[in-house]
Amino acid sequence: MTLKEKAQLLVGTGMYFELPEGVQSPFGDQEAVDPQDSAYSAMVNHIRTFVPGAAGNTSMFNEKGITTQVLADGPAGLRIQPKRKGEERTYYCTAFPIATVLASTWDTALVNNVGQAMGNEVLEYGVDVLLAPGMNLQRDPLCGRNFEYYSEDPLVTGKMAAAMVKGVQSNGVGTSIKHFAVNNQETNRMSVDAIVSQRALRELYLKGFEIAVKEAQPWTVMSSYNKVNGTYASESHDLLTKILRDDWGFEGYVMTDWGGGSDVVAQMKAGNDMIQPGSPDQIHSLIKAVEEGQLEESVLNKNVGRILRIMLKSPKYNDFKYSSNPDLKTHAKVTRQAAADGMVLLENNGILPLAASIKKVAAFGNSSYDFISGGTGSGDVNEAYTVSLIQGLKNGGYETNAALMKSYENYLVEARANAPKPKNWLTAMMGGKTPVAEMIVSKELAAQMAQENDIALITIGRNSGEGGDREPLPGDFYLTDVEMEMVLNVTEAFHLLGKQVVVVLNVGGVIETASWKNIPDAVLLAWQPGQEGGNSVVDVLSGKVNPSGKLAITFPLKYKDGSSSNTFPGHEVEGETGNEADLSGFSFMNRVPWESTYNEDIYVGYRYYNTFDIAVSYPFGHGKSYTTFEYSNVTINKDKFNEKVTVSAMVKNTGGLAGREVVQVYLTAPGKSMDKPTDVLVDFGKTRLLKPGEEEALTFEIEAIDLCSFDEDRSAWVAEAGKYEVKIAASAKDVQGTVGFELPGELVVETVSNALAPAMEINKLKK
Ligand code: BGC
Repeated sequence: MTLKEKAQLLVGTGMYFELPEGVQSPFGDQEAVDPQDSAYSAMVNHIRTFVPGAAGNTSMFNEKGITTQVLADGPAGLRIQPKRKGEERTYYCTAFPIATVLASTWDTALVNNVGQAMGNEVLEYGVDVLLAPGMNLQRDPLCGRNFEYYSEDPLVTGKMAAAMVKGVQSNGVGTSIKHFAVNNQETNRMSVDAIVSQRALRELYLKGFEIAVKEAQPWTVMSSYNKVNGTYASESHDLLTKILRDDWGFEGYVMTDWGGGSDVVAQMKAGNDMIQPGSPDQIHSLIKAVEEGQLEESVLNKNVGRILRIMLKSPKYNDFKYSSNPDLKTHAKVTRQAAADGMVLLENNGILPLAASIKKVAAFGNSSYDFISGGTGSGDVNEAYTVSLIQGLKNGGYETNAALMKSYENYLVEARANAPKPKNWLTAMMGGKTPVAEMIVSKELAAQMAQENDIALITIGRNSGEGGDREPLPGDFYLTDVEMEMVLNVTEAFHLLGKQVVVVLNVGGVIETASWKNIPDAVLLAWQPGQEGGNSVVDVLSGKVNPSGKLAITFPLKYKDGSSSNTFPGHEVEGETGNEADLSGFSFMNRVPWESTYNEDIYVGYRYYNTFDIAVSYPFGHGKSYTTFEYSNVTINKDKFNEKVTVSAMVKNTGGLAGREVVQVYLTAPGKSMDKPTDVLVDFGKTRLLKPGEEEALTFEIEAIDLCSFDEDRSAWVAEAGKYEVKIAASAKDVQGTVGFELPGELVVETVSNALAPAMEINKLKK
């Protein structure tokens, strides 16, 4: 390949939107691509016709046998344009449950299965790499993209991502685990400098990625927009070469997030092989850098080699004849079941599952009618339909109240017409559902509905997405007065007639629950469960599915209780100027000099709440069932550790309905020579569907690495000597059995690169 061809392969073919007639692109004349290079422009224009709506492409060189790679979002399903100019047919994809739902299943086999279905759509629509899964840690409940991520815990995150990657890639297509790394907020995401200790990086923010890379070898990794300890992730040799490749053995290629970083030469040297979406200016910069001696061509050769090695595996290179007709009907069943399995029953006074005598349902709450299947931005899918809660109820044989439905429908038309444009401009541009203010439910309306119906459902909806964080305010983290009044009025009216009330949370992340959760009779956390959402909710309400989901993130009493709430989302850095030289073609995105210091250090989520004994509304790992489980025979195979120990427990269904139980294993280290969180999740499992009276033995292996913390001085994973406790638990606050072992002497289990040291002192939270 010539130098020019190499540069053209390393830089993506640009952002392209199929726009309606007369609408101007924010990217200038899209067709001209590179006005100085008509051959290149023609090639790019040709590639763009392959899969309209794909986020990116790579160049192709036919005469050299180099095919393009089509890259498309995203975590909840394939995101492509559903309609194409001049064609009658459609190209809809399945909107699967968001990552938060999948994590709440605690079922890696199920996640693998969802990945298989998702990957099949990638293959059959002619795409090579799915830009998913998203797997940043849910550090703070307000991160606007938490719905695309799995958990506040790195083990759950890593295991879920690995299962997803394996499932998708089993189709012979690739994934891009993202956003590597420490992209835990949307506020100033393109310029924020995340300042984090090496220990917190290794134990929390990198750990999930490490698990996914080692267990599943994703074809690609997407570097994140932000800086980590002073350097853009995409320009960090420490991150992309020392850690990702030298320490973990990653074999694929790294691409930037769309417009990430600011210096292509630094990106190439760091091991960021591909620039996306890419601009001709960036191609010219690379060529110039080599010609002027600032960049060795051998660096480019290495990066090109990595891209080509993945290309050899891609469907496009292997001339796969895709059908453009994936089996959407079968995938609808996959998403329906996965969503039901990820719903978390937070409260239930016995009303659920609904008795057969309950037929007439009064559904309150805007989201009952305008159900939210997923979040906004690039993580949103263009699905053919969303089953609303109302439709789900009808499909399930329930009678919904027609007058109430009419009121909501009329209200929603008007409220939507008068709604302010979304504050998040990306949402405004890319579409997605922003909930409108809740309709007022008066005491009179509630009383009338209580007369006419057997039960009330109240849905509370929230949405968020790329480009903006959530707010610790009513209407977002907290309920508004109108929502609170709705819960109170409806509950009072129905209870007066001896009837009951179920609240359904149609949310993408954590909200405040403590102040109202005991008012209704049951609370079901349905999350944003994908396009079959209404059916999935009704499967759970009716008892067709016994809920077995558990929280993969803590629900605090109030936002301020969280360990990052004082520093999230950071602050402006005085004296620095923004908008540095930006060739990315994405320069319309503001770069405010911004800093976010992770003072809470290793104390994130339950690691914080448990260690500092802070009461929560729902602990990590919490979730109820329609049946009950009894744990017994918690045993360990030895009391002195060498290499590994095996812990087992018996779980018996002691209730009246078949069900599954998620079992968690927490480790408590001696904490003498090192500061340690009280509890760290080291393994988890889920029983099969147990019939009443049936039991299952679960076993868990704890290996030396599970005992370790990251010792910054030695740059090594070290297990301290002393007495350890292993807790078999139903949640982070519900321990069912404890065993222990001793580690006679300290173990240095693995020494790794000394990388990503922060340049400044961090005022770390300590026990
Ligand atoms: C997002 C990525 C996404 C990419 C391509 C970026 O703005 O951060 O998650 O994959 O766009 O759409």
